[in-house]
Amino acid sequence: MSRSERYTQVAIILHWLIAFGVLWQIAIGWSMIEIPKNPPGQRVYWFNIHKSIGLTLGMLILLRVVWRFTHGSPPLPDHIPSWQKLASRISHWALYACMIIMPVSGYLGSSFTKYPIKYFGYTLPHWGWDAPAYKEICSQVHNVTVIVFMTLIAIHIAAAIKHMIAKDGVMRRMWR
Ligand code: HEM
Ligand code: HEM
Repeated sequence: MSRSERYTQVAIILHWLIAFGVLWQIAIGWSMIEIPKNPPGQRVYWFNIHKSIGLTLGMLILLRVVWRFTHGSPPLPDHIPSWQKLASRISHWALYACMIIMPVSGYLGSSFTKYPIKYFGYTLPHWGWDAPAYKEICSQVHNVTVIVFMTLIAIHIAAAIKHMIAKDGVMRRMWR
């Protein structure tokens, strides 16, 4: 497979780092909200981990979006039907939208509280204020988007498995 038919090394590394990071982040998100509020230590600890990993992912996602805009994507092989080409384009942009909305809504929601965000123990500048109504909107966006995101990821993985079984070269475009 020639270089022009596959993603660049940088795109491949970012894809897999972000893919595993996002799945891990969703697992933490859903587990941490089940932790009882009293005593507070464990819950606060996992919320801080979630925020720190989420912000790190946000920066990687920003880098990825910039890379994507400056480097494009390799054209799909000719034998892929045009409806599949269209479906992949739409679903990839929808995945990018979710990748952006998740960290932004999480960050904004956490800023509209009286507590500053701690990034792996380092207290970030706190520009927000205690605004429960804004916080609630951001939480709703965060919680609804993650459902859309999970659905898209499930479809995306199913499509990747289909291409793996068909051995049509699509999986190798995003592999070493
Ligand atoms: C949270 C998980 C994931 C996210 C957010 C994600 C996101 C994306 C996005 C946005 C693209 C399009 C890249 C571009 O054109 O700029 C892509 C491509 C790709 N992904 Fe994922 N992905 C995830 C997990 C996976 C997994 C688990 C697999 C394999 C089992 C996979 C296989 C692929 C492949 C093969 C492509 C290249 C498709 C092509 O050649 O056009 N992804 N992914
Ligand atoms: C890719 C990034 C992210 C993903 C995939 C993600 C995922 C999740 C999930 C699955 C939940 C549980 C949802 C539920 O309540 O049903 C959650 C909750 C939460 N997340 Fe994130 N998150 C991300 C980034 C962030 C960031 C950057 C912050 C803050 C800096 C953050 C703050 C929170 C908070 C405070 C909650 C608790 C529920 C709420 O108040 O909305 N998240 N997240």
